[in-house]
Amino acid sequence: EFRRVLFRSMSQNREQWGSRVGFILAASGSAIGLGNLWKFPYITWHNNGGAFVIVYLIAVILIGWPIMTAEILIGRKSQKNPVLAFDELGGSNWSLIGWLGVLTGLVILGYYAVIAGWTITSFISCMNWSMNGYTAPEEGAFGEFIGNGKLQLLLSFIFLALTAGVISKGIKKGIERATKILMPILFLIIVYMVIMALGLPGRNEAFSFIFSPDFSNLPPSGILEAVGHAFFTLSLGMGAMITYGSYMDKKESIFKNAALVVILDTVLAIAACVIMYTIIFSVPSVKDSISGSTVGMLFITLPNLLYTEIPFGTILAPVFYILVGFAALSSTISLLEVIVSLLIDKMKMSRQKATLIGAGTTYVISIFCALSLGAVDALSSFSIFGPGKEGVLSTLDHLASNWMLPVGGLFITIFVGWFMDQKIIQDEVGKFNDDGSVNFTYNMFKFFIRFIAPVAILAVIISVIFGKDFS
Ligand code: PFF
Repeated sequence: EFRRVLFRSMSQNREQWGSRVGFILAASGSAIGLGNLWKFPYITWHNNGGAFVIVYLIAVILIGWPIMTAEILIGRKSQKNPVLAFDELGGSNWSLIGWLGVLTGLVILGYYAVIAGWTITSFISCMNWSMNGYTAPEEGAFGEFIGNGKLQLLLSFIFLALTAGVISKGIKKGIERATKILMPILFLIIVYMVIMALGLPGRNEAFSFIFSPDFSNLPPSGILEAVGHAFFTLSLGMGAMITYGSYMDKKESIFKNAALVVILDTVLAIAACVIMYTIIFSVPSVKDSISGSTVGMLFITLPNLLYTEIPFGTILAPVFYILVGFAALSSTISLLEVIVSLLIDKMKMSRQKATLIGAGTTYVISIFCALSLGAVDALSSFSIFGPGKEGVLSTLDHLASNWMLPVGGLFITIFVGWFMDQKIIQDEVGKFNDDGSVNFTYNMFKFFIRFIAPVAILAVIISVIFGKDFS
């Protein structure tokens, strides 16, 4: 395997996705994850819905889509991991963006694995409820669970080990095979849950919470958070999509694939909010139980819905949490792959060794995060970004999503829009229509990547710095 991979990368004949849908499945697998199902519903809740959702949607369109396209383009052109890709297309100074990306990947994977570990216990609880009947968890039970340091260490370890297991098998056999089966099932179950949620009494309140914007309700820090989340949920700003694009067939349309990933991801995030808020507004006891610990929303509210309101919920609940686990896994895979592909390409390591070193380093970060949810006081009260963001885990989440990813993304827009050989863009995405006229999407992309996206990101960053709201 090692020789084959090495030989292939040396001969520029990089391993590719095995089927036409390979890229789209893996890329949407990377994008769709805890960001959609866990994080978006709870940060939208904190930012009072409506206006926050609008800012997020605007960021997805103006910033997310062009950067998604740009990252795939860089990856497919260079056929390399982010560090070497920038090196090849722009020179060694630009490769610093790649290094920033690798560092960001380590940080995100470090805390993401801890949250992902919660899907394991949710699955076990659901199995238990499905067999022995549902009893709503007592208030405070979730806080106790996340405060159990040993358990958190174990769960995140298991999750990283699973990720490493898939990664060590390579692109086609590992990543593609797993996502091909699991993503479509997850999608169907979510659609079913949305339809069922629409029958609940809290539906109207949920919809107005999500869709009626009132900008006076949007905390100033919400704007940066919405932009940061657009990066996070689309896996942008750190080279994950560069890495996945590097395994993409030259015949595929980058524009179409990029747009599809963005649309799928956004639909899923909104669907998750619809489901969760409908339950919160329908079942008063749920509202009480999440009020102390909104980070637990995904893990507290949904079992209630599944076991008390939804036909076949008893069967679906364990299945649902397995799938959430897999959605998280297809995201952790992409995070680790950024690190592993660098070790393989640059340090000439075997895939196995690279995986071990990548996952091992990440676990060191996970240890600090796992113990920062109540287990160790010093870690739990650690704070840079102020109230509501205490603890190593929240701090790293804010640092990575709201700062590291947008800064990485900003440099990607500047590089692709202003410094990279523009002919590469023409060749990769196709500048002309069949009749010889210039493609509309091409013009739009150029305008977005050169002006709209960088100005939007810069405006947000500058206004946060001068407003001194370091959230
Ligand atoms: N997009 C993933 C999610 O929404 O859960 C998280 C993520 C994966 C962020 C990969 C960044 C990344 F490179």
